[in-house]
Amino acid sequence: MTISETVSDSLAAAQRRSRQIEREIALGDADAFRILTGDRPTGHLHVGHYFGTLANRVRLQDAGAELFVLVADYQVLTDRDSVGHLGEYVTSMVCDYLAAGVDPAKSVIFAHSAVPELNQLLLPFLSLVSVGELQRNPTVKAETARSRQSSVSGLMFCYPVHQAADILAVKANLVPAGQDQLPHVEITRLAARRFNERYGATFPEPDTLLSSAPLLLGTDGGKMSKSRGNAIELRATADETAGLIKRARTDTVREITYDPANRPEVSSLVLLAALCLDADPVSVAAGIGSGGAAALKRVVTEAVNEKFAPLRARRAELAREPGYVRQVLRDGCEAARSVATATLTEVRDAMSMRY
Ligand code: TRP
Repeated sequence: MTISETVSDSLAAAQRRSRQIEREIALGDADAFRILTGDRPTGHLHVGHYFGTLANRVRLQDAGAELFVLVADYQVLTDRDSVGHLGEYVTSMVCDYLAAGVDPAKSVIFAHSAVPELNQLLLPFLSLVSVGELQRNPTVKAETARSRQSSVSGLMFCYPVHQAADILAVKANLVPAGQDQLPHVEITRLAARRFNERYGATFPEPDTLLSSAPLLLGTDGGKMSKSRGNAIELRATADETAGLIKRARTDTVREITYDPANRPEVSSLVLLAALCLDADPVSVAAGIGSGGAAALKRVVTEAVNEKFAPLRARRAELAREPGYVRQVLRDGCEAARSVATATLTEVRDAMSMRY
């Protein structure tokens, strides 16, 4: 079997498993799941995050799953030398989470750096994974290919294991994520399995819940990214949104169609409108027809501004209460810490390291 066959095999398996989990959730069994997922605070969250993951987290929370949302602050340092505007981004992300509907009465929002017990799990976990396994991780591999091997930081190299510590510190059994995160969850499963084999049953082997959300392009036609200046941020005003969409790249064909393969920029705008309107992109495109890019941009701007008006109003209120937002994060860190402390105690017991 070739490597690409193995990859597509495990993707197919993950898709099957995701569908099965969705069926269990639809049957009312969401409370069987403890979820951990998170974001690196390297910028402000945008509409792509909303449709790709935020809305899904809130859906799972509201269905009764236990939700842990991680502000992955240490992971900011995997591929850059300094933390940049970390404080601003962390506060902004917590505002976005809350405005999107993450409920601090039910769910836990926390940061890596506030949970030393999570980080301590990295040591035993590093002993469970080989250098070769890390070198084969696609993120680590891509990073190594992009820069010189010698300049890849040790933290970047160990990053999938750190992510395993995130997930297993709270014993999450489900990680909602995009395909790109599958290899990390594979390493998490490997670490859990090997730990359990060597030291006794301690960890669940978490599943990935693959999101079906399509990828949105940024206004420059590249992937919408929180650190490339090409994103429609959740915190943007209606006017800023209009300005961003006005500048978005399109093409010269007047008739608007939904054809992602041949017209990626136009189709991504159509898709964004369709997601906001909860409509089918093909019929959204047909509705605009020969109106051209100007009509398309009008429809998208209106759809985005209408869809996000309530979230943005809540977010603006939260931004006026930084003390409250801080407190939510502090409480979340404390709650996560008590779970991670219990896990670490179990781990040290299992490893005969209780003194
Ligand atoms: N690596 C993820 C990203 O870059 C963020 C992340 C950190 C994460 N820890 C996690 C996601 C644990 C899922 C589970 O987006």
